[in-house]
Amino acid sequence: MNVFEFIIIITLQNNIFSGLFVGQNLLTLKEVDSTNNFLKDLLSNSKPVPEGTVIMAETQFAGRGQQNNQWYSEPGKNLTFSILLKPTFLAVADQFDLTRAISLGVYDALWPILGDGLKIKWPNDIYYGDKKLGGMLIENLLQGQQIKSAIIGIGLNINQEVFPDGASNAASVKQILQKDYNLRFILAEVCNNIEAYYLNLKAGKIDFVRNTYLSRLYWFNEQRSFKTLNGVFEGKITGVKEKGLLVIKDNKGDELEFSLKEIEFLNK
Ligand code: BTN
Repeated sequence: MNVFEFIIIITLQNNIFSGLFVGQNLLTLKEVDSTNNFLKDLLSNSKPVPEGTVIMAETQFAGRGQQNNQWYSEPGKNLTFSILLKPTFLAVADQFDLTRAISLGVYDALWPILGDGLKIKWPNDIYYGDKKLGGMLIENLLQGQQIKSAIIGIGLNINQEVFPDGASNAASVKQILQKDYNLRFILAEVCNNIEAYYLNLKAGKIDFVRNTYLSRLYWFNEQRSFKTLNGVFEGKITGVKEKGLLVIKDNKGDELEFSLKEIEFLNK
């Protein structure tokens, strides 16, 4: 299939994108299965795609979420887009730093609108209060010990007013602030802020990125309930390991480490 079959609107360059490269090459699609798939096809089928290229879709008919879930977004109401990065400076073992940087970029873009209720739920969900505003699906293409390219798929609920019953935990900016927001403006802010954190990572400011990520983390250092295959327990999130494992100190004082599939946050 020719990937260009899907392109209805093409937008190149836009002055609200004040960064150096993220968003400078922007393709807006009327409809696509998934912007991540589209970008992946583009990478394998065409001449080199510039770093920072953004593919945005008004409608995704097969949007993908984490852990093989679907990502549903009402057409034209929300942001669904993918960014191409080429973090060849990052070792495969450090790929969670990219997750941190991208999460922080999204956070900083939304913070002026939403303020302190905004949090990053480990590993990379964007939360307001106890509701999920958005998430990301980062797909890295590896070459040896390096990350050759990263497809950063981001879905953010902006102007959607109603969510299907199955998405009881979802919320949008409009539901919080009772106001419509300009999607392109928020996209530009997200791109500009992601670029800033990405350049920090590239400049070796790993501690800054890791510490800032921790300071924005949902439930950090709070006494909370969690569920694993072994049952429910109480504890506090005390850190995130280099490779992204979540560290929770239980009430016996033991520090336990979890991957995404091993732990569930329990809201009482
Ligand atoms: C999650 O499960 O929280 C991740 C959601 C990621 C959705 C975005 S929307 C744009 C891009 N294209 C996809 O198919 N998925 C990501």
